[in-house]
Amino acid sequence: MDTLLIKGGKSLRGTVKISGAKNAALPILASTILSRGTSIIHNVPQLSDVDVIVQILSSLGVAVHRRSDQALVCCVNEETSYAAPSELVKKMRASICVLGPLLAKRKKARIAFPGGCVIGDRPIDLHLKGMEALGAHVQVENNHIELTAQKLNGNSIYLGSSFGSTVLGTANVMMAAVLARGKTTIKNAACEPEVEELAKFLNKMGAQISGIGSRTLIIEGVDELRGTEHRIISDRIEAGTFMIAAAMTRGSVELLNANPLYLQSIITTLKKMGTVIVEESNRIVVEGKDNYLPVSIETTPYPGFPTDLQAQLTSMLTIIPGVSCVTEKIYPHRFAYVKELLKMGACIEQKKASVYIEGIKTLKGTTVFASDLRASAALVLAGLVAVGETQIKQIHHIQRGYENLQVKLSYLGADINYK
Ligand code: EPZ
Repeated sequence: MDTLLIKGGKSLRGTVKISGAKNAALPILASTILSRGTSIIHNVPQLSDVDVIVQILSSLGVAVHRRSDQALVCCVNEETSYAAPSELVKKMRASICVLGPLLAKRKKARIAFPGGCVIGDRPIDLHLKGMEALGAHVQVENNHIELTAQKLNGNSIYLGSSFGSTVLGTANVMMAAVLARGKTTIKNAACEPEVEELAKFLNKMGAQISGIGSRTLIIEGVDELRGTEHRIISDRIEAGTFMIAAAMTRGSVELLNANPLYLQSIITTLKKMGTVIVEESNRIVVEGKDNYLPVSIETTPYPGFPTDLQAQLTSMLTIIPGVSCVTEKIYPHRFAYVKELLKMGACIEQKKASVYIEGIKTLKGTTVFASDLRASAALVLAGLVAVGETQIKQIHHIQRGYENLQVKLSYLGADINYK
């Protein structure tokens, strides 16, 4: 079951329902540590990354169960544990999200340096800088970080690196600051929809966060938070992946539960290339074309073109006549999939953090290896248009971020099966 077999050449047609956003669900689930009582979270996708955060929460005294309507019910039963199990933390970068909540609520947090997708250096210095600014004592030893603070105090914190803002760093500092004494200002905050979503969830639990969705977040600390009920937004990266799949296979796909507001950069890019896209409040229709134009893009923080769609767009550009260029500004080494596309006949040259793609007529099916989540998606897209059969090995990565991808693609007419 760790190999996907795709027989290429089918245009995708029909309707697909986009799942809840993984990158919104993970920090929101972690934030339940901050509250008393029970929270009910709807539209949480069934993914291996969600399983990991649920297991971490269970080990930290938060009981989580999935109801028959798919909602996750989270209830804090015990508040003495403060150390996240290393074997789980090493599986997923987003495990770092428990740091802020543990420190704020339990005055102590211990966590191994997190693992996750292999997409280049992923430091956590900004997370730690934020916690220190709030008054935490940070100790690093044996590849573990331990933070302590009897009481956190609000402060003004600039969170940024040469790669821009930090999504989970902003989430972590915001989650620590909601229970700090006084006012915290986060400057250069990430304004990805998933960060906005976390802030809204925290406010529903009783936090006082303003400036939501902007580069400056202002947080007035409160004494305690209560459980609440919330519905996770749809996954803009899953939606973007299906949009590219529809365009690339010259198909016609209706996406339900997809918010075009969060997808403007990919919509603009695909339209510039010649795709016809209809946008409604929670529905997008993508009509593929026979002829597309090449394009040049660079990935930047939201609302720019997302790094999480970089590999999928590059995959499409391999079959668009002319020369396209894709520059990665957030994770300059996020090109592990390129050598796999080359095996399929693609014509791609990498120069530092840019790839130049000369479009060819067709890719050819062969055996390729998935190295991370979005690389897996890029190879699936390539397989959908390749001549003959593509075998994608190590496909387990895809289950980290795409709910039922094989079923959804089959439903749209793709010939795709697990082996
Ligand atoms: C989030 O990771 C997402 N993960 C990633 O999605 C996404 O690629 C990334 O944001 C960028 O959009 C989740 O939300 C769970 P960052 P995050 O901190 O928060 C540097 C996917 O495929 N940096 O915003 O960990 C960092 O190296 C995943 O779903 C520091 O220098 O990313 C990078 O260059 C993979 N120091 C840039 O900032 C720090 O302390 C942005 O990273 C933190 C980050």
